[in-house]
Amino acid sequence: MSSAETSRSIDTVMREERLFPPPEAFSHRAHFKSLDEYEVVWEAAAADPPAFWEKLAREELHWFEPFTETLRWNEPQSQPFVAEWFVGGKTNACYNCVDKHVAEGRGDKVAILWEGEPGDSLSLTYAELQTEVSKFANALKSLGVVPGDRVSIYMPMTPELAIAMLACARIGAVHSVIFAGFSAEAIADRNNDAGTKVMLTADGAWRRGKALALKETVDEALAKSATVEHCVVLKRTGQEVPWTEGRDHWWHDLMQEASADCPATPMDSEAPLFILYTSGSTGKPKGIKHTTAGYNLYAKKTYEWVFDYQEDDVYWCTADCGWITGHSYLVYGPMAAGATCVMYEGAPNHPAEDRFWEIIEKYKVSVFYTAPTAIRAFIKWGDEHVDKHDLSSLRLLGSVGEGINPEAWMWYHTKIGGERCPIVDTWWQTETGGIMMSPLPGAIAAKPGSCTKPLPGVIPKIVDEQGAEVGADQGGMLTVAHPWPGMLRGLWGDDDRYKEVYWSKVPGKYLAGDNARCDSDGYYWIMGRIDDVLNVSGHRLSTIEIESALVSHPAVAEAAAVGRPHELKGEAVAVFVTLKDAEPTDELRKELKLHVRKEIGALAQPDDIRFTNSLPKTRSGKIMRRLLRDIAAGKELVGDTSTVEDYAALAKLRDDEE
Ligand code: PRX
Repeated sequence: MSSAETSRSIDTVMREERLFPPPEAFSHRAHFKSLDEYEVVWEAAAADPPAFWEKLAREELHWFEPFTETLRWNEPQSQPFVAEWFVGGKTNACYNCVDKHVAEGRGDKVAILWEGEPGDSLSLTYAELQTEVSKFANALKSLGVVPGDRVSIYMPMTPELAIAMLACARIGAVHSVIFAGFSAEAIADRNNDAGTKVMLTADGAWRRGKALALKETVDEALAKSATVEHCVVLKRTGQEVPWTEGRDHWWHDLMQEASADCPATPMDSEAPLFILYTSGSTGKPKGIKHTTAGYNLYAKKTYEWVFDYQEDDVYWCTADCGWITGHSYLVYGPMAAGATCVMYEGAPNHPAEDRFWEIIEKYKVSVFYTAPTAIRAFIKWGDEHVDKHDLSSLRLLGSVGEGINPEAWMWYHTKIGGERCPIVDTWWQTETGGIMMSPLPGAIAAKPGSCTKPLPGVIPKIVDEQGAEVGADQGGMLTVAHPWPGMLRGLWGDDDRYKEVYWSKVPGKYLAGDNARCDSDGYYWIMGRIDDVLNVSGHRLSTIEIESALVSHPAVAEAAAVGRPHELKGEAVAVFVTLKDAEPTDELRKELKLHVRKEIGALAQPDDIRFTNSLPKTRSGKIMRRLLRDIAAGKELVGDTSTVEDYAALAKLRDDEE
């Protein structure tokens, strides 16, 4: 199909608002079988959310001590505070994800089917996972870790990463997983904010056949992380590593000495389970805090509903555990459900562009969850890589991280799903803990590009600047009207910022930070962020964080970062820079790119750097981001970017518009 034809067919999809109803064979055995069934459950849950969640919590989690109060929440007109769920109860997230299955006779079921990038593989049953997790929990204890201590994890996608997370949960330690692409600076910032006691890493990580030096990066970070007492190192690549006697320990040495007897510690429902840092609209990343019972229940139920969990599923979520998707839909959700999960270590195009399809064929994956940025890459790489493999095991497909454009949706549907697999376009955030809006695949017809409807127990409201609800098809800010168990419980060590970011603009409702509209069929369409947060390959990046990194370079006077459309990444980072005394050379451009990479990590490295004499500003001194976005998108001033341009002159023409 020519690109003109493709875009015509996309236009048709958008104009017709074509509906893709669930195939009958799918609905037949699904958890939710019809729209009516969904609506009845949703209405009942919305009428009394605590009653709805109370029943599920009692039935679905293991309680060492039952809870006495379902929800503690002051009707927050003037006092928006942290909701507490299942107060007075004691449970353990690791117990729910591992021991419960062993205790109930499912210990022989495979929990993890792991595929290493170089082609090695490993399978672990729930009983084996219990042993490994217990041993590592004892190893952590031997290093002095006690409930409430923070453990930072900077590891490749190996089974040990999941084991480490679960081992922390088992003994009540709070994990903070840091994506293994972040820089030493970023690790140190996170360690210092969390007050990390123990750091877990590996010698290296495989990425497209190359061994990345994780331990070296961690050492650099630890030089600036005063609270860290111990560092545990998994041997993965076998490369040479720097070593600090007394502080550093090999994973395998600790495991050799550790006993497999380590009962899960009963934890308060509201005991912190993990911190996960994410970008906000100010410079410093936010430590999103999630707690034990509510998060665990929410991850489990949303996994079962959205991915229509069936006992014989082989489920693969391609996300890294460094992101919330890896937390909720690789570890805590599917494992609480007792699912068999595929975990893959490496890149989708190593050794070739068919690696994902090879894995689906090899493990007979039935449910596959990935991101639009990956789907766009697959389309670009060409159908021949898909055609080599038998994908008939697939029955359901998922998407997360950004809106999926109809073209990518259609390709996913036809080429990967063979037109028989429903697609769940899942909208949620690090803060929400789990999926908030998504088709229930047996019940809700999909419209490509829409995350469709809220899950039971989720009450979204789209509001205007005054906080008033808007009508159908009118855009506004997306908020959530009632607490749900998976919601964040604050920002680590920063209550004021928590209130300010999520609860101050629209009193009494959780402000998601996205714009959205709801059409006359009750379908939601996410329309992008309300703040200066970029979405690059499904990852959140703060423009201010990138700008701060740039101005920390001695040559830079001022910087402005904006997003511009990018074929694969969704958004690419474009920056405009004014210099102090330096010459605007290509060399300097390269150096600045590397500088951002060093300060934050490879994912934040700008795609374009433009030098300018001055940044366009409004009369009140605000950078005119909209103008810069247009320029970055090529709408104006296309041409040789190596020349210094004066955007201030343009700004004068546009000043009134901003
Ligand atoms: O803007 C929305 C976008 O990603 C943001 C959340 O990013 P993060 O906390 O990193 O979590 C990503 C994985 C859950 C949201 O505020 N987003 C996420 N999923 C979608 C989406 N935008 C449109 N459609 C989605 N399905």
